[in-house]
Amino acid sequence: MELTEYEEKMYNGEFGEKKAECMDVLVNLGKVYDAPNMIEITSAQVSGVSYKTIGEAGLEFITDLGKDVKVEISSMLNPAGVDLTNWESLGFSKEFTDKQIEITDGYSKLGVMNTCTCTPYLIGNVPLLNDHIAWSESSAVCYANSVLGARTNREGGPSALLAAICGRTPNYGYHHMENRLANKCFIVDHDFKSEIEYGALGYNTGKIINDGNPYFIINSVPSRNNLKTLGAALASSGSVSLYHVEDITPEANIVKEDSSFDDIEVINLESDDIINTVSELSTTDKIPDLVCLGCPHASLDEIKELSELLKNKTLKKDLWICTSIAIKSASDQCGFSNIIESAGGKIVCDTCMVVAPVEDLDYEVIGVNSAKAANYIPSMCKLDVVYASLSDLISMIT
Ligand code: F3S
Repeated sequence: MELTEYEEKMYNGEFGEKKAECMDVLVNLGKVYDAPNMIEITSAQVSGVSYKTIGEAGLEFITDLGKDVKVEISSMLNPAGVDLTNWESLGFSKEFTDKQIEITDGYSKLGVMNTCTCTPYLIGNVPLLNDHIAWSESSAVCYANSVLGARTNREGGPSALLAAICGRTPNYGYHHMENRLANKCFIVDHDFKSEIEYGALGYNTGKIINDGNPYFIINSVPSRNNLKTLGAALASSGSVSLYHVEDITPEANIVKEDSSFDDIEVINLESDDIINTVSELSTTDKIPDLVCLGCPHASLDEIKELSELLKNKTLKKDLWICTSIAIKSASDQCGFSNIIESAGGKIVCDTCMVVAPVEDLDYEVIGVNSAKAANYIPSMCKLDVVYASLSDLISMIT
């Protein structure tokens, strides 16, 4: 692999043994994928934060690395396993939280910003069109590639962290335009009425296309929140890292004008395909004992919408809306948090219903409006799930 003079020095240990080890891993990764060189990145987003998912081995790896190196570029953390401030009132154990704080402290020593969110693009980490980045949370990868037109592979937590430490990543995969072209075209004849129908579309087509790049022609105009939901679902039922929506996403025109577009398979989807997928995603018809919103982490608009539904109401069941501490702070200032908390709901920061040990909290059925969460909760948390729209979920528990 061709390396610049600076990269050679890093590789040969002139900036320390640990950094050389990081560079060595990246170079070997690049060789596996036939990358001709390394490419400088403008930001990193690092997953592998919850103690539930990385355990002692992950904690040791991060602590060890933090003794010798720091990240070179702007880097943010994915959600952790608990709300780092309000863990006790949510019922999380001190033992788990202590381990979780050791992990986030370890990342802080490495210079990774302790933002703990899967929607860094909502709190200022907004790459520009064609920016090369190394992000690892699958829904964020999908959003960055598809909606922002930035360029990232679906990194693992460790490879995103090593890229942040070295400031570069092997130049292969989604960093090249030829790998960003569409593989299948989905023509969707459906009038989208709620966020869960976009999630159902993503869940359905992710299973069909797996790790390919879908191109959607739809006759509704999705909001940014809908695109966030769609990408998360695509990345969870398949391993999609990039999708295009005609007339909406920034690379759709380039992709459509490429000669390869004429030869791709076209799949027609009807309303029944969407509606049936919505039904399939629930595992029970019981009333949820916890409603969990914010997968991916909620935007300020989504929190506002929830607060409007909860005005002068009292919740009969628990409700969490998961977000970053930065968005919660804006919600506090706008008065949305006060309305939600007065109704009995909680704004949960730093974590989510999938990476937190929710299975230890005496709930049996979780209500969600995210197809990604509906897909993962039964297997990762061993709980039943009800997949319904925000407004339907609120009707069920007020
Ligand atoms: Fe984010 Fe957790 Fe969903 S990390 S995308 S809220 S599963």
